[in-house]
Amino acid sequence: MKKRLISMFLVLILGTALIAENRSFQPGKIWYDTTGNPINAHAGGFLFHEDTYYWFGQIMIPGSRGSDAWVGVSCYSSTDLYHWEYKGVAFQVDDHAAHPVTRGCKIERPKVIYNEKTKKFVMWWHHDINGQGHKNAMTGIAMSDKVEGPYEFVRIFRPLPGFYPFNISEEMKNRPVPDMAKNFSFTGGSLPAEADSLLIFKRDLHTGQMARDMTLFVDDDGKAYHIYSSEENATLHIAELSDDYLGYTGRYARAFPGRFMEAPAIFKKDGNYYIIASGCTGWAPNAARSAVANHLFGPWEELGNPCQGNEAETTFNSQGTFVLPVQGKKNAFIFVADRWNPSCPNDARYVWLPVEFKENKLMLRWKDEWDLNEFE
Ligand code: GAL
Repeated sequence: MKKRLISMFLVLILGTALIAENRSFQPGKIWYDTTGNPINAHAGGFLFHEDTYYWFGQIMIPGSRGSDAWVGVSCYSSTDLYHWEYKGVAFQVDDHAAHPVTRGCKIERPKVIYNEKTKKFVMWWHHDINGQGHKNAMTGIAMSDKVEGPYEFVRIFRPLPGFYPFNISEEMKNRPVPDMAKNFSFTGGSLPAEADSLLIFKRDLHTGQMARDMTLFVDDDGKAYHIYSSEENATLHIAELSDDYLGYTGRYARAFPGRFMEAPAIFKKDGNYYIIASGCTGWAPNAARSAVANHLFGPWEELGNPCQGNEAETTFNSQGTFVLPVQGKKNAFIFVADRWNPSCPNDARYVWLPVEFKENKLMLRWKDEWDLNEFE
């Protein structure tokens, strides 16, 4: 017994020492927080606030529905990007069956932004109702005075009922919605017709637009945007948020019609906006896409799959979730992705890789291990 205790103690000391010394990223390896537990923050988003990085993500558990929200959204903090301290459950599911965020609903791809004017932290996510799969395709909002939470539930909704995207033609606006679109529901992967001919945004004009995979982006002027897979996932919508970040101004654009972009991640470099997104194959990985624009609303120019080398066609067996700007370094951006594990969702791994810029394109190359010296 005494021997066992001593060896457990040694393992603990060794483990802690390894964690403390760890000064590199090891894509695909289990990543432990500062107390020695695997980081549980999937499809995450990041916020840099008062000299500290915060990582928010889905808490997943074992089991076939382990990626649904049984606990909520976690928060971790770090000052060096290598060591992450668990700050607790930032946004908790509710115990009441009638509550929109009742245990077992879907709270996917949570992202948090800070509103300088209201001094509130605002969380948005892709919401789906308990037991109804992904069919409702809604958006959720929660809010907090403190970065690590607790975040209070605000509402769930379908974006922008009654508003047309501003970048469609009068002809599209006036065309009737075909019957096929009225009864159409997403089965995964492609539409039976050209996305634009189905006029799905028009079909959903009164109910609000569908909103699944998503991210938020705050521009240098403080204006924020919600970028989400809409129209049965066929087309991205880019919608400007109101000044308090709790709703929309009503101005939104369609982008990449019919391209089935998911997992959008946006960043800005030298006045240009870049997007890295995935295709649409559920948990199975596919080839990433990238694009550039000089305004978030577009027009976007596609730059192709940024991945190079082995497993470029599966984004190194992962799907993006965020591009994280490294503070204090010039042009330093980290592509943050998830390597899903549907049979054991909590064991999904993180894949972090440096974004490289080559001949006006983006490039991602696999590295078994790397550190911030990779950047200038
Ligand atoms: C992925 C999506 C994930 C999750 C999954 C479910 O395409 O990016 O966030 O919704 O599908 O199949």
